[in-house]
Amino acid sequence: MKQNTIIAIDGTSASGKSTNARIIARELGYIHVDTGAMYRTLAWYCLQKKVDVHDAKAVGALCRKWKTSLQCTDNQVHLLVDNYFPAKEIRTPEVSEAVSHIAAIPKVREWMKNKQRECAEFGNLVMEGRDIGTNVFPETEYKFYLDACLQERSKRRAADGIQENLAARDQRDSQRASAPLMVALGAMIVNTSEMTPQQTSQKILAEIRKRLAANEQAQLAKARS
Ligand code: DC
Repeated sequence: MKQNTIIAIDGTSASGKSTNARIIARELGYIHVDTGAMYRTLAWYCLQKKVDVHDAKAVGALCRKWKTSLQCTDNQVHLLVDNYFPAKEIRTPEVSEAVSHIAAIPKVREWMKNKQRECAEFGNLVMEGRDIGTNVFPETEYKFYLDACLQERSKRRAADGIQENLAARDQRDSQRASAPLMVALGAMIVNTSEMTPQQTSQKILAEIRKRLAANEQAQLAKARS
């Protein structure tokens, strides 16, 4: 049976992952998955339930019993909790501050990895996050790592009306023991500091199409032999 194709887009906060992942998914007719939103949903749920996000045991226990489901609508997969996707609530400064703490908990990462791998049942994916190419789908041949200088990333967040300490969050994401943010083997690195989303997505799309065509050729040659 043909496996669904997974495009892994990892990188630092505000490096352009979401904007580009959306454009690329739309252009290819793939499904977009924002895994950061899944971690944010758990962070929000912890705050709702008054669970201390620094207490790994308590967060792990909550993660084992929360009632979730995956929903695919308009080519986007969302993680629902109690049948609800907290789209707006997960973008608050409180959740942004809490999220990298819960994302460092190994039991949480294990749970998220299983859920994120389940998403492949919906079809071909463009999945964005921090560890998609290294940990969630290390077997994919389509890996991209986005970065931009801190000044530019802070400017982008400020333009969205969001003030946050990106450097501190990046440090926590890169230095945690469990599946830290790093460049996956074979990933194409794209520095988006001086590029528009249009330029970035076209560059990535060109590489994806090149790799897809090479794979198709290899499979045809294999079938013929
Ligand atoms: O992409 P974002 O800013 O919405 O991600 C929120 C947090 O979730 C981020 O600080 C790191 C964490 N995260 C992660 O550890 N692994 C992922 N695959 C996605 C997000």
